[in-house]
Amino acid sequence: MLLEVKDLDAGYGYLQILRKVCLTVDKGEYVCIVGPNGAGKSTTMKAIAGLIKPMGGKIIFNGEDITGLPAYEITQKGIAFVSEEMNLFVNMTVQENLLMGAYIIRDKKIQRDRLDFIFDLFPRLAERKKQLAGTMSGGERKMLAIGRGMMSNPTLMLVDEPSFGLAPQLTENVFQSLDVLTKSGVTIMLVEQNVTKTLSVTNRGYVLENGKIGLAGKSSDLANDGYVRKVFLGV
Ligand SMILES: Nc1ncnc2c1ncn2[C@@H]1O[C@H](COP(=O)(O)OP(=O)(O)OP(=O)(O)O)[C@@H](O)[C@H]1O
Ligand SMILES: [Mg+2]
Repeated sequence: MLLEVKDLDAGYGYLQILRKVCLTVDKGEYVCIVGPNGAGKSTTMKAIAGLIKPMGGKIIFNGEDITGLPAYEITQKGIAFVSEEMNLFVNMTVQENLLMGAYIIRDKKIQRDRLDFIFDLFPRLAERKKQLAGTMSGGERKMLAIGRGMMSNPTLMLVDEPSFGLAPQLTENVFQSLDVLTKSGVTIMLVEQNVTKTLSVTNRGYVLENGKIGLAGKSSDLANDGYVRKVFLGV
């Protein structure tokens, strides 16, 4: 098991959002978390990535307890988080943004190798490496955010709503990028509003509602589940 989240309680200040969230991810899996707005999907990812400290429970990664470690240490251990906000440096170039993602790698040679790897993966970023991130299109910026996450050579990538605000064609491009990554061996945990699409590309999924895991199972089973269809797919 690559990641095990056990009875995770988390929130903001005194406000508890997550209640005893349990989930696991195996190496090489493509797993999703779906659920309504405000359910706690991003909060779950932030807690795993070390951006908020859990109030209770445990997070085990690669057999090691990483609960409560600071974000940079969690990045060093091999978890990358591509947040909804993306937090790109708009006045820096594509290449500079990518290099920021490799801040945990001290060796310049390895940094260059990672950069070449990302440019192979996303030729669009290579073409535009000198362009300011702020002038990239919405889809290109998502691609850049994903590429930057990949710069630290993660084992597990947490990707929060990569299709948010994108036109269908760009959404398709982003999903294709994620597909390329999973095929290259990266384990992905995806949060997405586009439930139909998400359940069609991932292996397994969790349904999060009101800070609790309601349902879990193979994505194909969830896609056929009566409750999921009624509540999330509107059928
Ligand atoms: N920094 C914060 N301070 C206080 N409350 C917060 C903070 N961030 C999120 N929340 C609250 O936590 C709850 C869960 O938010 P979260 O962002 O995890 O939901 P989500 O499932 O990702 O929703 P969405 O689909 O809209 O992105 C919400 O009620 C939200 O208002
Ligand atoms: Mg969210």
